[in-house]
Amino acid sequence: MKISALLFGMVACALSATASAQQPVVIKFSHVVAQDTPKGKAAEYFAKRAGELTKGKVKVEVYANSTLYKDKEEMEALQLGAVQMLAPSLAKFGPLGVKEFEVFDLPFIFDNYDDLHKVTYGAVGQQLFTKLEPKGIKGLAYWDNGFKSFSANTPIKKPDDLRGKKMRIQSSKVLEEQMRELKALPQVMAFSEVYQALQTGVVDGTENPISNLYTQKMHEVQKHLALTEHGYLGYAVITNKKFWDGLPADVRGQLEVAMKESTEYANKIAKEENDQSLEAVRKSGKTEIYKLTPEERMAFKKVLVHVHKKMESRIGADLIKSIYQATDFDPSKL
Ligand code: LMR
Repeated sequence: MKISALLFGMVACALSATASAQQPVVIKFSHVVAQDTPKGKAAEYFAKRAGELTKGKVKVEVYANSTLYKDKEEMEALQLGAVQMLAPSLAKFGPLGVKEFEVFDLPFIFDNYDDLHKVTYGAVGQQLFTKLEPKGIKGLAYWDNGFKSFSANTPIKKPDDLRGKKMRIQSSKVLEEQMRELKALPQVMAFSEVYQALQTGVVDGTENPISNLYTQKMHEVQKHLALTEHGYLGYAVITNKKFWDGLPADVRGQLEVAMKESTEYANKIAKEENDQSLEAVRKSGKTEIYKLTPEERMAFKKVLVHVHKKMESRIGADLIKSIYQATDFDPSKL
């Protein structure tokens, strides 16, 4: 090789190394809800802090509202490395083969956010994350949304009011069993399709925290909303493990700090976001909101607690017991 060609090659190499050193690492963060929700806002917050803390070495691009991928596709995309971060609902890990996360779907297992945090900030939550690793996925944090309520076009005051209703659920066998316990007909459906299914009558009703109901305008096509708060819906923030482990250690450390801050932020705003959404639904006047009496809510609890025993073989009796212990829950005392 001529010396000039060698020199040219060396200069080109040096230039491309400089260029790549300046190129930020791009993290595509895909999710299915509106921007103006606890998850939507926390994802934006993470993007901002990741950029600041890494001094521009990382650029997080957030794709909200299923604009990049829908529920099922997003998991596949993460495993293939087409996106680097997601925050799916804990009810959506069954199809991936990690059934244990469905423990969060057990009706009435958490009375409030404090109970929930004993699990998500504790040993059980961390142990659940290890189940993701053989799938090439790393769990980074748990982000709160809130407690789900039932909606339909007919009033809901007692368990029997949902008998025979087609109810949209997320892809969780626990939620399927929950609906069967109410003699309703569960229909698994991607989140992006729920509004239209409610509008056209493909399904009669659904369940979600109010922030999701409101930001997807579901209240405009549901005449009744009963504040049952019968189950929890929240998220696991996850990343492609190979991608995460391949990041330079200093950058990974900065992203861990950004994630910690975003988790604090998400879990601080979740309740107020849901309260504000409820107020907005009330103001819209499009849905009749019914607050159950404690006795009426207890009637739902007594029926739905049977789901816990029925789902022991799927989720693991020990896991359910460890949550009972963490939160001081005793179903025999109902
Ligand atoms: C749903 O599908 O109802 C929710 O999981 C959507 C979400 O991510 O909050």
